[in-house]
Amino acid sequence: MVAQQLCCATSPSQAATGKGSAVGRVVVDHLSRHFGQGPSRVIALEDLTFEVDEFQFVAIVGPSGCGKSTLLNVLSGVLPPTKGTVRVLAGDGGDARIGYVFQNARLLPWRTVLNNLLIVQQERSPAAEERCRKILCMVHLGDRMHDWPGQLSGGMQQRVGIARAFSVEADVLIMDEPFSHLDAITARSLRRELEEIWRRTRKTVLFVTHDVGEAIELAQRVIVLAPGGRLVDDIKVDLPYPRVATDDAVALSKARVLRTFEELDLFAT
Ligand SMILES: Nc1ncnc2c1ncn2[C@@H]1O[C@H](COP(=O)(O)OP(=O)(O)O)[C@@H](O)[C@H]1O
Ligand SMILES: [Mg+2]
Repeated sequence: MVAQQLCCATSPSQAATGKGSAVGRVVVDHLSRHFGQGPSRVIALEDLTFEVDEFQFVAIVGPSGCGKSTLLNVLSGVLPPTKGTVRVLAGDGGDARIGYVFQNARLLPWRTVLNNLLIVQQERSPAAEERCRKILCMVHLGDRMHDWPGQLSGGMQQRVGIARAFSVEADVLIMDEPFSHLDAITARSLRRELEEIWRRTRKTVLFVTHDVGEAIELAQRVIVLAPGGRLVDDIKVDLPYPRVATDDAVALSKARVLRTFEELDLFAT
């Protein structure tokens, strides 16, 4: 079942290295990922080293083709590194659980909204069902649980995708441009909801976006990738939540990241 694998992706290679590790910590050490050989070789990621602390909300920004999705695919175990290591550490000594949200919700059309969440649960218990119902209420879909995905708008379907990722009680949530296909107003309201759920559930989040404004509105830290998969900046965003795009402090932080883009000539790539 594709959705199940993707939503609950876990990998022994990303298992915790021992009891007592922090919940939802990510350690990337000299990671490179290349595709192909010889003159046609593509360097998608080149020598990345960084750590993400538990409960941190980190945005990864950069122009198209700079390796953002490849990084998430390596972190979730879908792709092996060419060089270096990645570890997603869980606290209990077991496999770290990763929730994945994509650009499209990827719901199973023949399952109701609630069943799309239930199918990815490790065990079908009343407690698991209660958790799914609760999380659907958090994304304001409490009255649409028994609808089919096809009966929902694109924004609602994406809400279900987010609820599904949170419902698996992941240690780390990975999101790959989850709002990029939505209209600006829906995207904004989903950003608010995501921020609220994140603050309530305290997950570690890695959020990929090419939208610098979105990164600043959401993240405590912005990692900037450049073409060739290089990490060129790592910016702390020390602003209170909820953040509003029109606030001076938010606009200033956005300008700071955009300046990095200018200085590195990333707009020209
Ligand atoms: N499976 C693949 N085979 C070959 N090249 C790939 C593959 N996946 C990604 N790439 C290449 O790696 C680079 C980074 O891609 P990607 O991670 O999708 O970038 P982004 O998500 O930042 O737009 C691009 O040049 C892309 O063409
Ligand atoms: Mg991508």
